[in-house]
Amino acid sequence: MGRIRKFRRGVLRGDGVAGMLGVGALHRHRHVRRQGPVQARPGAGPLTLEIVHTDTDDPMDREINDAIDALLARMTVEEKLGQLTLEVGRWTDVGPRVEERGEEDIRAGRVGALYGVYGAEYTRALQRVAVEETRLGIPLLFSHDILHGFRTTFPMPLAQAASWDPAAVERAARIAAIESSAHGLHWTFAPMVDIARDPRWGRIVEGAGEDPFLGSVMAAAQVRGFQGDDLAAPDTVAATAKHFVAYGAAEGGRDYNTVDLSERTLREVYLPPVRAAVEAGVAAVMPAFNEIAGVPMHAHAGLIEGVLRRAWGWDGVVVSDYTGVMELMRHGVAATPADAGMLALRAGVDIDIVSDIYLGLADEVRAGRLEAAVVDRAVRRLLRLKHDLGLFDDPYRYSDAEREAASTLTPEHRAAARDLARRSIVLLKNDGVLPLPKGIRRLAVIGPLADDRRVTLGSWTGAGRVDHTRSVLEAIRDAAGPGTEVVATAGLPDAVADDTAGIPDAVALAASADAVVLVIGEPESLSAEAASRASIDLPGRQLDLARAVLDTGTPTVAVLVNGRPLAVPWLAEHAPAILETWYLGIEHGAAVADVLFGDHDPAGRLPVTFPRALGQVPLHYAHRNTGRPPAEEERYTSKYLDVHWTPLFPFGHGLSYTTFAYRDLALSARTMAPDGSLEVAVTVANTGDRAGDEVVQLYVRDDIASVTRPVRELRGFRRVRLEPGASERVTFTLGRRDVEMLDADLRPVVEPGSFTVFVGGSSRATLEASFAVVAG
Ligand code: BGC
Repeated sequence: MGRIRKFRRGVLRGDGVAGMLGVGALHRHRHVRRQGPVQARPGAGPLTLEIVHTDTDDPMDREINDAIDALLARMTVEEKLGQLTLEVGRWTDVGPRVEERGEEDIRAGRVGALYGVYGAEYTRALQRVAVEETRLGIPLLFSHDILHGFRTTFPMPLAQAASWDPAAVERAARIAAIESSAHGLHWTFAPMVDIARDPRWGRIVEGAGEDPFLGSVMAAAQVRGFQGDDLAAPDTVAATAKHFVAYGAAEGGRDYNTVDLSERTLREVYLPPVRAAVEAGVAAVMPAFNEIAGVPMHAHAGLIEGVLRRAWGWDGVVVSDYTGVMELMRHGVAATPADAGMLALRAGVDIDIVSDIYLGLADEVRAGRLEAAVVDRAVRRLLRLKHDLGLFDDPYRYSDAEREAASTLTPEHRAAARDLARRSIVLLKNDGVLPLPKGIRRLAVIGPLADDRRVTLGSWTGAGRVDHTRSVLEAIRDAAGPGTEVVATAGLPDAVADDTAGIPDAVALAASADAVVLVIGEPESLSAEAASRASIDLPGRQLDLARAVLDTGTPTVAVLVNGRPLAVPWLAEHAPAILETWYLGIEHGAAVADVLFGDHDPAGRLPVTFPRALGQVPLHYAHRNTGRPPAEEERYTSKYLDVHWTPLFPFGHGLSYTTFAYRDLALSARTMAPDGSLEVAVTVANTGDRAGDEVVQLYVRDDIASVTRPVRELRGFRRVRLEPGASERVTFTLGRRDVEMLDADLRPVVEPGSFTVFVGGSSRATLEASFAVVAG
């Protein structure tokens, strides 16, 4: 890893003479020190204000910091606060533009960064105003939410996680960076690394699901994809790990709601993916809208300055979540905008979106109510990011009209989107209906989402366009052979209406066909931000439609299009086959057709548990055992009277058109030292007659410990491709991190004793072996 950075009380140097150009010539990658386990206590009391300033042994690094300090010394308070202000653009007939006063604000040095404004020529023109018409010529940062592709829309992040394929996920982020950077963007507000265990919460679709291990792998993959290994390269963008932290733990699954959770859960479940992003060198972090136990995250000095920066040694930029600073007043911890601004700045929120509150803090600084050093440390971080992106060297390097035209929505990018879309589809059930025979005579495509292009893109569509995507119906028509007649009806007026008028036509069509593809689920408006649901059933009258169609007896494949686990027990019991297709992006239709007709074998696996009923939530595989684990015949055990305690589909579940068998699980040793390692090997064989991918999953349980441990935790996985009859020996290496836990005082420890490993094709894996951790 990179150089070790030590933190000390900052010395604010204001006497440097190096100018802007001196800064620009010195490119350095952003490195982050890899450290031992988190030591700081999040939320533990107010922290004394300490100016965090990077000290380094690296002369080049020191030179950059000196040059930044020299620039800082030339800035007025207003110019500094301008650097800490991020203005939001708007959509117009000619594309994204700044607000009416935007250009004037840039000229006056009131803006350091812009959001949602892109286009090579336009960003170049705005950058010119910043560089040539402001007193100090500091370049602007252009930011946007690019979560799953820019123009080439990839699957939503939850779907990407279902691929269990970090290389493909990294590639998707890489392509998003190539396309967006060519449009003048420098900075994405992604990846979303929130763990989500409550399917009511609409934002579950933006992250990698319920598991900290899978979430960490996906977080790091995306950071690598966006940032590459050189932030200053013209085709990489700065990434933002969001939302810091525990946003997914909102009470009742209601977006923006209060969070109150134990410090253990915070550290075991919610912090690890952020940590993984930090270790991957993420440039920025965005605090969440929620509070944790009384402290709103935009004011949480203990977690931002304490954990992120001091304990983890991370020195990037913290960007507010939209109106998060302003909302400190609604939270009731600040009476005025100035109070809110000072609270957030002191907590370590460096740049404020939307509200312009920081811009109004000059009087507070002059009156001594806000420490000038607090402002300076934030400005330093922003300037450092601009430096690391290479903007002082060449502020126009990302705004490249030629590259914009040549590298957007290329056939290669589309192919990658199709590949990942296919990999993200999960075959939940199949009694043999799938794949559909190529020569099928009459195929009915039914359902309110069957011919819906918009739904395929999901939310946070970047610069994605509906005219670049295909609906499932369109793609099926394209893919069906000449002998197949494809007939279609929506069956319902729309997916959410309480109206069954179209069902008789759908039934007639289904009865006349040899097979039915029933495309149902959630319109994209029911998913993502501000889209929590108090029910996770199929919305509207879609279940009635499904019952009526299935009653015809025509072999039916249910194709689910949705952004959260749905409770669909009736469908799971009665539909002969179910495909979970999420929102797959511009190649959604094509990918579904590929899988339906067997041109691609589905191998996605669930990154989140599907409950039978909402009443089971939260339901996740890595639960504790309890003193009374559920037992069928014993009433006084932990279960429900009206619903079985098990999930409808467990975490890690997914079928294939072929079958796999596991054998010869072997450990390299029976014991492991706390800092040692151990190899786990297993043979996986394709026992069917088609080629296919299997996702080999490794889980670990700490059998007896000083505090209770989850019944099993994912510690490794590998997606492997196997020809029929072929087998592969898959090996995992376990190390300290895989057996470490937090003791009763929340200190990271490895306790000697017995551990069990489980290997197989889901969190229900049954092949097991034991080893012991032995001290010394
Ligand atoms: C969302 C963030 C997003 C920001 C800027 C907020 O409402 O919570 O995830 O990055 O808007 O669009």
